[in-house]
Amino acid sequence: MSRIIISGASGDLGRRVTGLLLAADPHRELILTTRTPEKLAGLASDTVQIRHSDYQHPASVQEAYVGGDTLFLISGLNLGRRISEHRGAIEAAQKAGVGHIVYTSVGGVQPGNPALSAIDHHQTELDLRASGLKYTILRNALYAEIVSNILVAPAVPSGILAQATGDGLLAPVAKGDVARSAAACLMDPARHVGAVYEITGPELLDFHQIAALGAQIHSTPIEYQPITERDRLAFFDSIGIPRTYDPNMPPSPDGHLWASDELVSAEVAVAQGYQALLSHHVKQITGRAPEPLRSVMERVREVRYDKIDAAIS
Ligand SMILES: NC(=O)c1ccc[n+]([C@@H]2O[C@H](COP(=O)([O-])OP(=O)(O)OC[C@H]3O[C@@H](n4cnc5c(N)ncnc54)[C@H](OP(=O)(O)O)[C@@H]3O)[C@@H](O)[C@H]2O)c1
Repeated sequence: MSRIIISGASGDLGRRVTGLLLAADPHRELILTTRTPEKLAGLASDTVQIRHSDYQHPASVQEAYVGGDTLFLISGLNLGRRISEHRGAIEAAQKAGVGHIVYTSVGGVQPGNPALSAIDHHQTELDLRASGLKYTILRNALYAEIVSNILVAPAVPSGILAQATGDGLLAPVAKGDVARSAAACLMDPARHVGAVYEITGPELLDFHQIAALGAQIHSTPIEYQPITERDRLAFFDSIGIPRTYDPNMPPSPDGHLWASDELVSAEVAVAQGYQALLSHHVKQITGRAPEPLRSVMERVREVRYDKIDAAIS
């Protein structure tokens, strides 16, 4: 059986996928690589190794990948710098003899997509294709948990959901479905060689519909108001969200770690239609229909975003 590396294993997706892989086979051979091995110490066993690695330090990554066959390359958070970080991880995988990389990209990756995160992912996808390694790309739609707890929930007090998303559509996907899709690809990588999957939820919605859903879930009126990119940035400035990502910045009070340039450019991408994607890939890969946004919102509404984990969803 092939040995799977989970790279960036202590984050939410890494933990979920690790849990699914071990639930399917408690004796599965895993290498969990992370900047914070102490967070995963409880998972170490005869078959599960915990190793230190940081995309910012390519030598650490190369050492950590030795002995692995299939790599789950979880994209990092250092916007702009991720391109070289991911490139270093791909080169490390080549040198370590890894045969196949499963990569977490984002929906709507195309040249011209204004979302800063999509620009990084586009280049990493190109680097992956050029590497000569086998690959599977999971283009994950916006997490439904983010829509629920970071976009809609803060609109409850004012009753106004004001964003730069225009009338754009998206199909938010539950993190549980992202994790199940990734785990299925990692457990049978040969079946998914060269695949580019759009990992979406089950329905395309605009923010008028999402605000109406939020109003039902929170039992209070919520109205969606499209605003300009400039006004949205000014709003984030007014509540102290930094413009650009800094790895040392503290999470916001609702538990997210993104800068306003990333958030707002992603909203503009929605407005321009880059997220208007609906696929059947989750069902095809996992055999299970993806969870609707309403169900996710009901389940996670009382939980701070960074406290949502596999136990809740
Ligand atoms: N589709 C979406 O809506 C969406 C939203 C947000 C993020 N994302 C992307 O999807 C990824 C997984 O999501 P998540 O919910 O699991 O995020 P998360 O809980 O915030 O975890 C972040 C992950 O990035 C890894 N990472 C960050 N910087 C790194 C570095 N310098 N070197 C190595 N690993 C690094 C972390 O690994 P360790 O801490 O273990 O080292 C961790 O696994 C994120 O990292 C991000 O790229 C997607």
